[in-house]
Amino acid sequence: MKRSERLGIGLVGCGNIAGTYLRNAGLFSGVEFRACADLDEAAASRRADEFGLKALPLDALLADDAVDLVLNLTVPNAHFAVSMAALAAGKHVFTEKPLAATATEGRRLVAEAERLGLAIGSAPDTFLGAAGRLARRMVEDGAIGKVVTGTAFMMTRGMEHWHPNPQFYYQPGGGPVLDMGPYYITMLVNLLGPARRIMAMNTTGEPERRITAPGPTHGARFSVGTPTTITALIEFASGATVVAGMSWDVFRHGNHPIELHGTEGSLRLPDPDTFGGTVAISRRGADWEEHATAGLRHGRLNWPYDAPDRANYRMLGVADLAAALEEDRPARASGALALHVLEVLEGMLEASISGAPVHLPERSVRPAPLTESEAVALGG
Ligand SMILES: NC(=O)c1ccc[n+]([C@@H]2O[C@H](COP(=O)([O-])OP(=O)(O)OC[C@H]3O[C@@H](n4cnc5c(N)ncnc54)[C@H](O)[C@@H]3O)[C@@H](O)[C@H]2O)c1
Repeated sequence: MKRSERLGIGLVGCGNIAGTYLRNAGLFSGVEFRACADLDEAAASRRADEFGLKALPLDALLADDAVDLVLNLTVPNAHFAVSMAALAAGKHVFTEKPLAATATEGRRLVAEAERLGLAIGSAPDTFLGAAGRLARRMVEDGAIGKVVTGTAFMMTRGMEHWHPNPQFYYQPGGGPVLDMGPYYITMLVNLLGPARRIMAMNTTGEPERRITAPGPTHGARFSVGTPTTITALIEFASGATVVAGMSWDVFRHGNHPIELHGTEGSLRLPDPDTFGGTVAISRRGADWEEHATAGLRHGRLNWPYDAPDRANYRMLGVADLAAALEEDRPARASGALALHVLEVLEGMLEASISGAPVHLPERSVRPAPLTESEAVALGG
C-alpha cells in the first residue's frame, strides 16, 4: 500500500461505540471508512446516512474490493464469527475488545490471521494515548528504577443504575474482569511486559440485583451468574508483582487506577480507559510531580463532543495498524497482545474459582513504544 492510499475500512456492528470510531476516523490520515453492515439493517442505514457510507449486507461488505480491513464493533459473543469470516474473505481485522469470548477462540483467530498473512488487531488502544506513552517513556528511562510492585483498581457499583438491560454483564462472559480488565491489563503489559503467573480469589456482594436505571425495566430483579469482585495477584515475567482489584460491588473508593513502585520511585497513572489524563511521579519519596498530558498528541480533551472532559481517540490503534502494513512491521494493538491479555483475564477468573495458581504461556507481546513523532505522523 502506498502512503497516498488510505486503508479502506468496512465497519461491522453499527451500535453505540461505532459513532466514536466514525467521528474519530477523520483525524487519522491513513484510514477511511468505505462501507458498513449490521444484523439490524436500520442501524447500518442510519450510520451510513450520518457518515456518507454505503450500507451493505455483511456478505457484500466482505466481498467488496474497497474494503481492506473489517472493523468489528459487534457484541463480544459475535467477535469470533465476524472476525473469522473477515479473515476468510481476505480482509485484515481490527476488533473491539475482547478479541474473542474465550482465549481458545482468540488463539484460533491469531493463528488463522498468521496462516493467511493478514493483520489482526484489537482494542483497547488507549495505551497508545498521551498518558500511556508518557508513562512508558518514564518507565523505560528508569525514572522509577526497576519496577518491583504495583496496584490496579477498577471498582464501581456496576451497570444496573445506568443500563436498562444490564443482565448480560452479570453472566459468564461478563463481569468486571472481562468487561473492564482489558484496559488495565493491556496498560500493565505495555509498561511491564507479559505476565507469567496469577493467583486470585473472588466474592459476590449480591446474588440478585435490581435495575435502577430509568425505563420500562426499572425495578426488575435479576440473578447474578458470575463473580462481581475478583482480587488477583499477577506476577510479570520481569519479576514485578501487581495486586489487581476488579469489582462491581463498590460504592466509593480512594484507590488510584494504576500505581507502580520501583527501586527509584513511584508512578501513578490515570484511568486507562482514556487516552489522556495526568501522570504523576514521586522520585525516592519526594512529593508527587504531576504531568498533565492535554498538550500532547491524543491527550487533548475531546469527548463527550458537546462538553469534553476526557481524551477519546479510539481509532488510533487502527491508524497504527494501517501504518504497520505499509511499513511491514507488527501493529502495536495487535491480536497477539490482545490474546495474552485475554489469557490473563481468563486466568484471573479461573484462579479465583479453583484457588490454584494459573501459569501463562510465555509470549513476547510487549508492543514497541509509540514515539511522539510517530504519534503525530498518525494524526489525531
Ligand atoms: N459502548 C461503549 O461505550 C463501548 C466502549 C468500549 C468498547 N465497547 C465494545 O464495543 C463493542 C460493541 O459495543 P456497543 O456498545 O457498540 O454495542 P451495541 O449493542 O450498541 O452495538 C453492537 C451492534 O452490533 C450488531 N451486531 C451484533 N452481532 C452482529 C453480527 N453477527 N453481525 C453484524 N452485526 C452484529 C448489533 O446489531 C448492534 O447494532 C463491544 O465489544 C463492547 O465491549 C463499547
